[in-house]
Amino acid sequence: MGDQPKNVISIRDFDRDGLLDILDKARMMEEQPRPELLRGYLLGNMFIEPSTRTRLSFASAMARLGGDVLDFGDPARSSLKKGESLADTIRIFAGYCDVMAIRHPWEGVARHGAQIAGIPVINAGDGSNQHPTQTFLDLYTIKKTCGRLDGLEIGFIGDLRYSRTVHSLAEALSRFDGSLCFISPEALKAPDYLLDELDEKGTDYEQFDRPDDVLPRLDVLYCTRIQEERFADRLEYEEVKNCYRIQKELLEVCGVKKTLKIMHPLPRVDELSTDIDATGHAVYFEQAKNGIPVRQALLAMALGKI
Ligand code: CP
Repeated sequence: MGDQPKNVISIRDFDRDGLLDILDKARMMEEQPRPELLRGYLLGNMFIEPSTRTRLSFASAMARLGGDVLDFGDPARSSLKKGESLADTIRIFAGYCDVMAIRHPWEGVARHGAQIAGIPVINAGDGSNQHPTQTFLDLYTIKKTCGRLDGLEIGFIGDLRYSRTVHSLAEALSRFDGSLCFISPEALKAPDYLLDELDEKGTDYEQFDRPDDVLPRLDVLYCTRIQEERFADRLEYEEVKNCYRIQKELLEVCGVKKTLKIMHPLPRVDELSTDIDATGHAVYFEQAKNGIPVRQALLAMALGKI
């Protein structure tokens, strides 16, 4: 299986070779289906926060490898509702499966869960912190659609403060050559800890408050939703909720590269117009689909089968 960690908690745990190794394994999963690889294994899906793509693509990935899925279901129907601690809940659930994927609004839950579960734990998103499996499928999509991960100019737009997908992906991209452009209003700027890490790694980045000037330079534009659920202050959310909208007219006015790829972890609300969907720029539905081979590779790696 190589030297990969069995838990998938943070993208920080993977160096450049480790990232590329998972992407290679995902490519093999896509090219050569392994319908019996995880026969007899059970994935526990514990989502204490809403999810469509991550929850379902984990389940689909497991089923396509011959394994089964135990879904924790609606937390309101569990004994969490009776006051059982999250730690006890994780311990109990882990006893019923062989590997678990956990999503929770609190930062650090996946790392804590990995210390007490006794089985491999995969972080399916912890608060505003990390979403490493999304990052693997983002990297997979960039490599597949742009042909490389080095030498690209990649823009991030929207909620750079709370978006765990941005934090994880920017950290991963710091292992590659290229430059990053962060586009957001002041209130949604990328957190200092992330910028400090990029400084430490010598990653080339710039910050902008408007997309117009920078769009023509970009190879990839990574859009994010303004996440209402992360704001403690409702008024703060109201002030920034419509701070930008990527639509066909804007791309035409700015004169973006014909090869520009527009990504989005989804779900989208109003920040990404549906008039982009039919353009050659849109790769976000393909991106979501890439969650299958990537999560197949991560599940098989976590269980020591590849
Ligand atoms: N990209 C993503 O994490 O989507 P879900 O919240 O639907 O899982």
